Amino acid sequence: MTSTALESFIAQATARSRLQPDPADCVLALAPLMLDLLDQAGTFLEPQHYRSSTTGYTRNLIFDAPDASLSLYSIVWLPGQWTPVHDHGSWGVVGVLEGILEERGYVRLSPDRGADKEIDLARGGTVLLRHGAVTSFVPNPDHIHVTGVAADRPRAVSLHLYGRTMSNFNIYDVGARTRRRIEVAHNES
Ligand SMILES: [Fe+2]
Repeated sequence: MTSTALESFIAQATARSRLQPDPADCVLALAPLMLDLLDQAGTFLEPQHYRSSTTGYTRNLIFDAPDASLSLYSIVWLPGQWTPVHDHGSWGVVGVLEGILEERGYVRLSPDRGADKEIDLARGGTVLLRHGAVTSFVPNPDHIHVTGVAADRPRAVSLHLYGRTMSNFNIYDVGARTRRRIEVAHNES
């Protein structure tokens, strides 16, 4: 079942992203929509959007555009669950519904010539995001980070909007200075 708030968000996000080909302009236009969507989440989130797993953080699909230009997921993070170090190949806008989502950034020191080796990353700062917070990122150079929830904190739930169907991304081995493309799973709506 879809809600008016979700339908309106999708319609506005689709329109604004088409008007803003520059990813930095796009996230500027979409971040306020995510802020409002968080307030409306109770009108469209259903039990399947809160599915979790003890084996790792869980991505639950909410919306996937037929032309693959936009996708929205709810992600459920149990205590101690983290992503690998990864990028996105897309802009993204993230809003926190529940708990404290932590983001640990990396800064790419070596130029990106599209190669999967000789990649030098330095650890950057951390961000702690509570309910109601919205953050975003843009590609080229791609945003590289780890996201998750500390083991001593409660479950977190967040909404993630991307500028493509987010079914794969690069994960990085910082010590080996390499990266590789992986498929990332999700639960269907
Ligand atoms: Fe990410």
